[in-house]
Amino acid sequence: MTLKEELLISVEERPEMAALVNDALGALQGCGSLREIEDARVRLLGKKGTVTSVFKGLAVLPPEEKAVVGRIGNLLRQVIEEEVDALRRNIEHRETERRLAAQTLDVTLPGRRRGIGHRHLLAQVIEEATRIFVGLGYEVAEGPEVELDYYNFEALNQPPYHPARSLNDTLYVRRPDPICDDPADIMLRTHTSPVQVRVMEKRRPPLYVISPGRAYRRDEIDATHSAVFHQVEGLAVDRDITLGHLKGTLEVFAHKLFGRERDVRFRPHYFPFTEPSAEMDVSCFKCLGAGCSLCKGAGWLEILGCGMVDPNVFGYVGYDPEEFTGFAFGMGVERIAMLKYGIDDMRVFYEDDARFLRQF
Ligand code: DAH
Repeated sequence: MTLKEELLISVEERPEMAALVNDALGALQGCGSLREIEDARVRLLGKKGTVTSVFKGLAVLPPEEKAVVGRIGNLLRQVIEEEVDALRRNIEHRETERRLAAQTLDVTLPGRRRGIGHRHLLAQVIEEATRIFVGLGYEVAEGPEVELDYYNFEALNQPPYHPARSLNDTLYVRRPDPICDDPADIMLRTHTSPVQVRVMEKRRPPLYVISPGRAYRRDEIDATHSAVFHQVEGLAVDRDITLGHLKGTLEVFAHKLFGRERDVRFRPHYFPFTEPSAEMDVSCFKCLGAGCSLCKGAGWLEILGCGMVDPNVFGYVGYDPEEFTGFAFGMGVERIAMLKYGIDDMRVFYEDDARFLRQF
């Protein structure tokens, strides 16, 4: 028998208490929230509650009635407590269900993509070229992008009157000020060649170094020009270095970077810091030498400048040209990337459009 059934049987002994019991149970049934349940509980069982007053009235009753009314009152209190607990649990349960329903997770939804970066094509080409030379025993050396005239021009055998120092090409940071007796020009380096001078100045041969980095020129940006661009410079100085070493080294490099099937040729050229100087071409990527719009019918594409280090340059760094010889080379990273990957506009390198970069 449940307490409630016991209560309903007991109350038949005191019919005048039936209304109280019915009202109490009915009041609880109507409760829809925790707040209402608590209010009803206080109204029934609180200090001034209707059930509590039953116990207060016991004092005036004769002993045999006291027992019956007391028992009914106790049963009623227990039943109310049970009901209150059950109702509370019920409401809390429904609350939890509702919360969980609101939180449901649709496991069929596609995941959110994280924007993962991609190595820039120029960084890849620099890394590839560097790796090839490191494999040949070269080490990497870097120099400042803000450079002194001495390293960028003078010690590279370009004295002040030299036409290649044209103002039109150089971005100056500071020009000499005659009043302050301050003769040194400071500029953004126009090529990575000054690193050669800085390395030779600090060390003695044998030297096999590669210097990737940024260079700057006063150029308007268009499909083939940018004021900021990248070069990879190379320098080898040792005893008995010959033009044959230069050719062999750069041929190996070209074949590793562009593929074995590519032909290489050297054309005489002029650079102030090398003598003799040359430009190296590779057979056209598009037509493989037949002649097309990319190579302008020549079948060849110019890839880099190179030459035997001019004895005058050795003079600036205190090397004896009778004891040491060397070769040097320099290449434009953007140009190589454009030729290798068939890119016809340099500006895509600087837009950082992930859709472009992800293709490589
Ligand atoms: N510095 C040259 C340029 O910016 C490239 C170059 C040519 C570098 C010949 C060299 C070299 O070291 O030997 O166009």
